[in-house]
Amino acid sequence: MASKGFTVKKDWDNPREHAMPEQARVPAEVRLGTVLVTPATVLAPMAGVTDTVFRRFIRHASLFTAAAVSETHLRCNDEEAARVELPALSIGQPAIEATVSNAQSGCGLLMTEFTSADGLARMRESKRRRYLTFYDDEHPIGAQLFGSNPETLAEAARIVEETGFDTVDLNLGCPAKRVVGCNGGSGLLRDLPKIGEIFRAVRKAVTIPFTVKFRMGWNETQIVCVELARMAEAEGLNAVALHARTREQGYSGQAQWQWIAAVKQAVRIPVIGNGDIQSPEAAAAMVAETGCDAVMIGRAAPTNPWIFRQIAQYTATGSYERPTVADRYRVIRVYFQMLLDEAEATKDLPRDARMGETAGKMKQFATWFTHGVPGGAKLRAAIYQARIGADVLAEVDSFFSAQLANDAVSGPEPADDGVQVFPEGALVCD
Ligand SMILES: Cc1cc2nc3c(=O)[nH]c(=O)nc-3n(C[C@H](O)[C@H](O)[C@H](O)COP(=O)(O)O)c2cc1C
Repeated sequence: MASKGFTVKKDWDNPREHAMPEQARVPAEVRLGTVLVTPATVLAPMAGVTDTVFRRFIRHASLFTAAAVSETHLRCNDEEAARVELPALSIGQPAIEATVSNAQSGCGLLMTEFTSADGLARMRESKRRRYLTFYDDEHPIGAQLFGSNPETLAEAARIVEETGFDTVDLNLGCPAKRVVGCNGGSGLLRDLPKIGEIFRAVRKAVTIPFTVKFRMGWNETQIVCVELARMAEAEGLNAVALHARTREQGYSGQAQWQWIAAVKQAVRIPVIGNGDIQSPEAAAAMVAETGCDAVMIGRAAPTNPWIFRQIAQYTATGSYERPTVADRYRVIRVYFQMLLDEAEATKDLPRDARMGETAGKMKQFATWFTHGVPGGAKLRAAIYQARIGADVLAEVDSFFSAQLANDAVSGPEPADDGVQVFPEGALVCD
């Protein structure tokens, strides 16, 4: 199928080269109102991706101990990773064992997928539960809302607060036509007075920190991010996050970090920089170039769930370890187990509150996760045919057995085999 609209491949194929700048470190913490985020790294909201299973997976894949970091001895996985003898997956075992004592996650704040404020206000309790489910180990966690009606957004923010989220975020970046068509997401970037109304209504409705994530503007001739950030500060919001592209840009070209710097200079509330961070070097470079208070990472997380831990290690020591093929295999299995556990835990709930599509999620994840693994395209073709989770698992097992037999365990970081990680259809929102 001919590709139209925005694709991601272009940017990832031409990454900016980054070297660790002197004195540039991702900050150890950032305070969003009453919520301390430590370290100052945020998992970006991603529709279809950052559900509760994925969020917990990232939080735990990011665990490290301070001692391990200071010894420059951080393993991408624990010692057992190298053994690759994995138990058969079965339902009902907790996928995440008790975490290492004193361990800290390299991911400071998790964000939900965007959720429609209109939908939330109207939804049955059971369905709400599916959208707003999170577990204790996800704190601190922010819920993101989109919409255009100030009262509805305020009502939805109240629900978010009552549900126990630590922060509530407003989406002003989504370029999807169906969202923009209702004047939501990036559509609002053309109506600053309306944004002002929304800021005031939501601010009045909740006491938890209130943040906003936006793009630079509708297009290059209508850049509003600096003005918007000032408005946010004036209306009592606790932080702003900028994906440094315009709506018209979609995901093409490179993020224009200079606008993150401009926003940072304009306000005193924390500024979270977002766009094209694919490595610890890039995270440090964004801080150096823009002075941002925190970094937000989206597309790199599903293909490299270790990125937050790598940033923590890089910040502490100037270097970081890369996952081996065995690490990848183990982590895929952990994620699959988590999906099965969640499906099992929700199986007796009403249909709309269940965690469904387990096989679909397995396929999706295996696709992201074999990005860069030699021969990964063959696996992706095989799992494309799979209909149930067990078949996906069998393909993954057989693929990695062959990889490991070929002694890839201790091999270098594998070469990219060119898969388009987020095809156009996946880019529903921002
Ligand atoms: C599949 C996908 C879904 C996304 N969904 C959302 C969303 O629900 N809300 C949002 O604010 N941004 C969304 N985004 C945009 C990301 O949060 C982020 O701003 C963007 O990907 C740029 O960051 P990156 O270069 O680190 O990926 C989405 C991006 C992708 C790839």
